[in-house]
Amino acid sequence: MLLTSRSHAEYRAMFDLTDDDLAGVTLDCGGGASSFVAGAGAGGGRALALDPAYAAGADALARRLSRDLDRSRAIGIAGGDRYLWDWYGSPGRHRELRRAAGAEFLVDLRRHPGRYLAGSLPRLPLADAGVDLVLSSHLLFTWADRFDYAWHRAAILEMCRVSRGEVRLFPLVHQGDGAPVDFLDRLRADVEAALGVTSACVRVPFEFQRGADRMLTFVL
Ligand SMILES: C[S@@+](CC[C@H](N)C(=O)[O-])C[C@H]1O[C@@H](n2cnc3c(N)ncnc32)[C@H](O)[C@@H]1O
Repeated sequence: MLLTSRSHAEYRAMFDLTDDDLAGVTLDCGGGASSFVAGAGAGGGRALALDPAYAAGADALARRLSRDLDRSRAIGIAGGDRYLWDWYGSPGRHRELRRAAGAEFLVDLRRHPGRYLAGSLPRLPLADAGVDLVLSSHLLFTWADRFDYAWHRAAILEMCRVSRGEVRLFPLVHQGDGAPVDFLDRLRADVEAALGVTSACVRVPFEFQRGADRMLTFVL
């Protein structure tokens, strides 16, 4: 799995976030080298990110990020018609946002290491209802060929455990071909029944991978 670096602006669009949504403490689960946490303070809220990759430390992450940015650029070129460029404007702008987000992540990681937790779903090192909102992008569903139904179920239950308000997941399709995930409806119903919560698939103002224009939310 490549280390990717999406910007705060991409997160706002992928999860249709408002300033009110970000007023409390937000956890970015599987944050990778994204600058969501670095940018979150501007609106007055606080954010944390969690990723197993953070165990490697800032210097190793900087080396890996530079290598993985080159690799994801090559994949992007190879899979040209799988992507829509409306949001980014052009491949050049996309590259620049990714590069800038990665640089911002590294500065923030070195300045505020306590915001970045090394850990792996389905176990989070946080108290029950310890944060207000949990976000996870390009981990669940994206990697449904690698993580099975039981893992997804356990991961969502765990994110719901640590959130006081809501869990938002994006996108809802497989990486690569953007195929729908066949267990999505069953999983929603399963989690709703287990926790007595409601969920919804909500259209968002962002579509890069063709067909990936919805998030799944669990309201607690
Ligand atoms: C494709 S990246 C997405 C990163 C970022 N959220 C984004 O949208 O650019 C997926 C991230 O999930 C992390 N990851 C892999 N397994 C994980 C797990 N079990 N729990 C939490 N994060 C995990 C990877 O290290 C990687 O950084």
